[in-house]
Amino acid sequence: MTELRVVDVAEEQLDSVWQVRIRSFGPGGDREKWQQNARTFLDDGRLLGVVDGDGDGDELVAAARIWPFEQWWGGRRVPMGGVAGVVVAPEYRGRGVGSLLMRGVLRRCAEKGYPLTGLYPATTVLYRHLGYEFAGSRYKFSLQAADLRTLGGRGAAVRRAGVADADRFLELASAAHADRRSNGPLIWPRSEIESWLADEETFAYVADDGFVVYNWSDGALSVDELIAGSEETVRALWATVGSGSSIARTVHAYCPPYDPIHLLAEHEAEGDAKINRWMLRLVDAPAALAGRGHAEGAVLEADLRIDDPELPANTGDWHLSIAGGVAELKPAEPSADALHLGPRGLAALYAGTPVATLRGAGLVSGGAALDPALDLAFGGTAPYMLDYF
Ligand SMILES: CC(C)(COP(=O)(O)OP(=O)(O)OC[C@H]1O[C@@H](n2cnc3c(N)ncnc32)[C@H](O)[C@@H]1OP(=O)(O)O)[C@@H](O)C(=O)NCCC(=O)NCCS
Repeated sequence: MTELRVVDVAEEQLDSVWQVRIRSFGPGGDREKWQQNARTFLDDGRLLGVVDGDGDGDELVAAARIWPFEQWWGGRRVPMGGVAGVVVAPEYRGRGVGSLLMRGVLRRCAEKGYPLTGLYPATTVLYRHLGYEFAGSRYKFSLQAADLRTLGGRGAAVRRAGVADADRFLELASAAHADRRSNGPLIWPRSEIESWLADEETFAYVADDGFVVYNWSDGALSVDELIAGSEETVRALWATVGSGSSIARTVHAYCPPYDPIHLLAEHEAEGDAKINRWMLRLVDAPAALAGRGHAEGAVLEADLRIDDPELPANTGDWHLSIAGGVAELKPAEPSADALHLGPRGLAALYAGTPVATLRGAGLVSGGAALDPALDLAFGGTAPYMLDYF
């Protein structure tokens, strides 16, 4: 009799993972490069699979990987396991293998000490069953290169950047996200940042208080990230990209919806925008809440009743205190006034979704008196990510 179980993928199973991936996402990609990258996940216990068998000759039928990210929430960095490459072999789909795999992923995120996990869903059903909920978006805007070219900013010195600037880029991004109390953007492992900066098809420029990273994409220019600490640098970096307007008419930009460029570019209304939504889940509720920043002026004392069937450590009666921008979640006695929520409601609340929206979707109940204070404490700028993973 065979048995389905979650395992750490072994080196000799990488080829099977690749085969399931082709059947799931279509052919293409560089197999060698993928294997090399997959090994870094495998070596660190972040590549999980499901096997069918009782030991010898087990067949690998599903896989998923976990990125070791940090994510900005309220201007503070919270470790986050980014789940990617979730695949189940076609002949095994529709009988709970994806769910079994994702339960293993949640356990591993807990073991690795990630208070949060996030992902871009191809289908929401599987992930909602496991407690993930929509938390933010990745925005891609279209701008006219000619608008950018004439933005000025000539007072800012802009120079070409290379691998040696990786730390500088990290510092500048950190300073900006802490200052803006950003919600959502990822911090990638340093090795990834170095490999982007080393890539001759990625163009990076740095100024005293900012940088830009962009590339060509289907005849247009595409901005992956632009951080600027002053108006002069905003203008200078966007103008550097716009200097390509004789060849590229369009500049696609991954940036937040409140980036200063939206208030500067003249013809954005003529372009289009695309959004991809991502989901979040709290793995360790007390650590996730203590890790993020909250609105400075918010003061909250709230009883919560959390029911989390997948991660029972989160289940129970809790008291949430927020003051001075910091939160603490402590076990408490049951309360008749408690706000009741499951992992999906908790994830969406964490991401700043208005409580009225959560009530409208049936994701929270009780504790009505708490709504204004919860909205204030968790509210902030719209969560966004720049990158797909
Ligand atoms: C998506 C995928 C991983 C699901 O695997 P699976 O083993 O079939 O999932 P499960 O059997 O555990 O299903 C769990 C739930 O998700 C639902 N589900 C699975 N695939 C679905 C789909 N394509 N559309 C809608 N719901 C789906 C199931 O119906 C089930 O819900 P239910 O219990 O309410 O009926 C698998 O179909 C796959 O590998 N697809 C191709 C690659 C892909 O899309 N990966 C996801 C990347 S984010």
